[in-house]
Amino acid sequence: MSETLSPIDTAKFVAAKQAVGFVEDGMKLGLGTGSTAAWMVRCLAERIREEGLNIVGVPTSTRTAELARSLGIKVISLDEAKWLDMTIDGADEFDDELNLIKGGGGALLQEKIVATASDQMVVISDASKSVETLGAFPLPVEVIPFGWQTSKALLEEALNSMDVLGQSATLRMNGEAPYVTDEGNHILDLHLQRIGNARQLALVLNQVPGLVENGLFIDICDKVVIGHGDGRVEVRDIITGENTEGMVEFADTDNIFADL
Ligand code: 5RP
Repeated sequence: MSETLSPIDTAKFVAAKQAVGFVEDGMKLGLGTGSTAAWMVRCLAERIREEGLNIVGVPTSTRTAELARSLGIKVISLDEAKWLDMTIDGADEFDDELNLIKGGGGALLQEKIVATASDQMVVISDASKSVETLGAFPLPVEVIPFGWQTSKALLEEALNSMDVLGQSATLRMNGEAPYVTDEGNHILDLHLQRIGNARQLALVLNQVPGLVENGLFIDICDKVVIGHGDGRVEVRDIITGENTEGMVEFADTDNIFADL
């Protein structure tokens, strides 16, 4: 095990490395956003370099696009790709049915479009994101700037009739200014604590005027790869119902550590 990595980074890295092992030559891949997805981009670049794979990537944020390009991964738009073989992305929470909360990194809109346009979505995560019931992590929703306070009020009203514990929404900030997404929108974080019916909530949220998309990913994820600090990885597959466990071995000299 690498002595350069903390247990949490090791967990993210081994999950990413295992998931990148699912990639086949010629694939069109959705590239997620966040710290775990960044490990995936590094592992993917390493496989492309070492095995000469012909892979194109559709990034879900400008951050991921910059990282992928800097590592030599060919980047195209979703409109160029049209459909993807697989998307690999992180998550903020996942439950036993592999429904997710995403958007902690503010990229939920592009992430949802890209994942939905993929034959398969693989989530990579450390074990801390596994929950019995979604909702402890604040649920991000993307709102357009025009009349966002009205959208927020309408949203909180809609939450009154939902099976949730909390109902407050806060505007995500970037220092003194509202956070702005890649699409020029803002993010409201919903402090729900517990979401009783995530499927119903996802539908209701998207009826609120001004709300572009919500961070609930229902029936989108096919597989979760969970990494642990000791190098173990579990794979849960919702399609086959199989749960497998193994170890990811890696040398301290792996190229991807060079830039750390
Ligand atoms: C970005 C996301 C991320 O995938 C999610 O926030 C997990 O991030 P990290 O891997 O850094 O914990 O949804 O919008």
